[in-house]
Amino acid sequence: MKSNVNSNLSALFSLEGKTAVITGAGGILFGAVARGLGQLGVKVASLDLRLNEAQKTADEINAAGGNAMAAEIDVLKSESVTKAKDAVLAKFNRVDILINGAGGNHPKATTKPEEKFFFSDLSLEGIRFTFDLNIMGTVIPSMIFGRVMIQQGEGVIINTSSMNADIPLSRIVAYSAAKAGISNFTKWLAADMALNHSPKIRVNEIRPGFFPTLQNADLINKTPGTLTASRGTDILGKTPMKRFGKPEELVGAIVYLCSPAASFTTGSSIAIDGGFGSFSGV
Ligand SMILES: NC(=O)c1ccc[n+]([C@@H]2O[C@H](COP(=O)([O-])OP(=O)(O)OC[C@H]3O[C@@H](n4cnc5c(N)ncnc54)[C@H](O)[C@@H]3O)[C@@H](O)[C@H]2O)c1
Repeated sequence: MKSNVNSNLSALFSLEGKTAVITGAGGILFGAVARGLGQLGVKVASLDLRLNEAQKTADEINAAGGNAMAAEIDVLKSESVTKAKDAVLAKFNRVDILINGAGGNHPKATTKPEEKFFFSDLSLEGIRFTFDLNIMGTVIPSMIFGRVMIQQGEGVIINTSSMNADIPLSRIVAYSAAKAGISNFTKWLAADMALNHSPKIRVNEIRPGFFPTLQNADLINKTPGTLTASRGTDILGKTPMKRFGKPEELVGAIVYLCSPAASFTTGSSIAIDGGFGSFSGV
């Protein structure tokens, strides 16, 4: 039987006219993702706790000829996510793609030479904050926007894990465990959607490596202790490509995962890390 894949190649990666909801779109990485999708003809709902920043992203997309809206969202509060969902549906009438980009670490959940995990000056509050932001901040929007996809019978969810989900990085105890939780949740949700709701609702994740942004500036640039080289040098030493990532380098993997090209791909993870997760350092 002749395959019809080749005759449809031009449509394989097309997201033209789709609607994407992006949390954390006021931030560095997902601002770039939002702008990238906007350029490809995707209608973008730029959502963030910082409405000003979400609005800037939407304004940039619209100024470049795209179609974007901005709304405030607190991914930790169901009422706020529901309000954002209602605003998106009022404007675009459907949700084809949800990208859970909001997330991050908390300084109080990072060990330091003078603040060790066991003798702890390390704050449980910081650890709880980090678990909440990453895990609940992915679970709640997935639940609320996922319901819309279930009603539509189709959709794509992309979560944001990290290369430290498999091999934890030193110092960031809660962030590493939280991102591992996201990877596990991605697989759980992928199976649940396909088995119990619709095999046309796919759930995947990206695993970024190191992209210099505000939230990791301290860890990358400052020397954590006098005996070690700076963390930035250590990271590049273990990155086969010997450089940090650029935010736009996330766009291609996301386009693939959202597109018809990935129609049989669910529960998977794409590393975008310059090889960091594949190299022992030796
Ligand atoms: N920068 C990296 O190297 C790196 C590596 C791996 C994974 N990540 C992940 O990528 C994502 C984006 O990171 P970034 O580096 O662009 O950071 P960023 O701080 O620039 O972006 C995070 C955005 O999330 C928003 N946010 C925070 N709390 C929120 C809440 N409760 N509700 C809604 N929005 C909220 C912030 O306002 C911010 O705009 C995060 O999930 C992060 O963990 C980053």
